[in-house]
Amino acid sequence: MHARSFGAARVAVPVIGQGTWRIDGADRAGAVRALRAGVDAGMTHIDTAEMYGDAEVMVGEAIADCREEIFLVSKVVPSNATRRGVARACEDSLRRLRTDRLDCYLLHWPGSHPLAETIAGFEDLRRAGKILTWGVSNFDVDDLERALAIVGPDRIACNQVYYAPTERAIEHAVLPWCTAHGVALVGYSPFGSGDFPEPASTGGRLLRGIAEAHGTTPYAVVLAFLLRLPNVFTIPKTVRADRAVENAAAAELRLNAAEIAMIEAEFPRGPRPKILPML
Ligand SMILES: NC(=O)c1ccc[n+]([C@@H]2O[C@H](COP(=O)([O-])OP(=O)(O)OC[C@H]3O[C@@H](n4cnc5c(N)ncnc54)[C@H](OP(=O)(O)O)[C@@H]3O)[C@@H](O)[C@H]2O)c1
Repeated sequence: MHARSFGAARVAVPVIGQGTWRIDGADRAGAVRALRAGVDAGMTHIDTAEMYGDAEVMVGEAIADCREEIFLVSKVVPSNATRRGVARACEDSLRRLRTDRLDCYLLHWPGSHPLAETIAGFEDLRRAGKILTWGVSNFDVDDLERALAIVGPDRIACNQVYYAPTERAIEHAVLPWCTAHGVALVGYSPFGSGDFPEPASTGGRLLRGIAEAHGTTPYAVVLAFLLRLPNVFTIPKTVRADRAVENAAAAELRLNAAEIAMIEAEFPRGPRPKILPML
């Protein structure tokens, strides 16, 4: 799997990883098998969160015998993000994930506890070896500037934000800021969290046409489109092993300039919104 340097973590991480929100539905064994199939197909970058129900436990099961291969990311909810709360939340995540460290630990979205406290908690955990790096999620440029002012350069590994063809707001300022400051941009909900362009819509037909020209699927075309820009990672979620393998294969797909231009025109970036969109 094609990999890119992951911000301040300075390690190569697969460009396509695996999301785990809402994997704890009816067929949990199937979802664990899908995660495992994804890992075997190269998607060793796994994103989870304390907020995702039983997902951490399921991830722990899926990676029990291959932990060393995994770039494991989890998140603390803002209500837990005091200096001591971060430490407690991390211990709980480590226990559920059955591991002794996270590769990256994120603040799930900006909250009301002082950011300096959260960051102090992350730095405590880093010094203790419980996390190797930390980052943020759903941070707009002003939030990123605040974090940078607190901690200085080369500390923030990533900013995880909504990024799909239908939601390109981060291209205005967040992605350029992250790229300029060596912060990896991890795009979540690449398929609109299930709200994928209908096959009969103009956008759906365009994606299908491009997919057919490459012998692949519209979902793979979307992932390749999002990865056209440097410094971007994407983390689709699926509970199906066949789809996990298909998503991983998208890392090999290269769209040409004309195809990219058609997708950009069909799903325009739009004006910069006042508030960064999040799910
Ligand atoms: N930081 C944040 O605030 C935040 C917010 C949202 C999400 N996230 C992260 O980003 C991850 C991904 O986002 P998401 O879960 O919202 O949604 P998503 O990945 O955009 O879309 C998931 C949907 O697409 C379907 N799907 C996946 N691969 C497919 C394929 N190859 N063909 C057809 N359908 C396919 C899935 O169905 P099946 O599962 O049935 O295959 C599911 O309905 C999350 O799981 C989570 O880890 C983070």
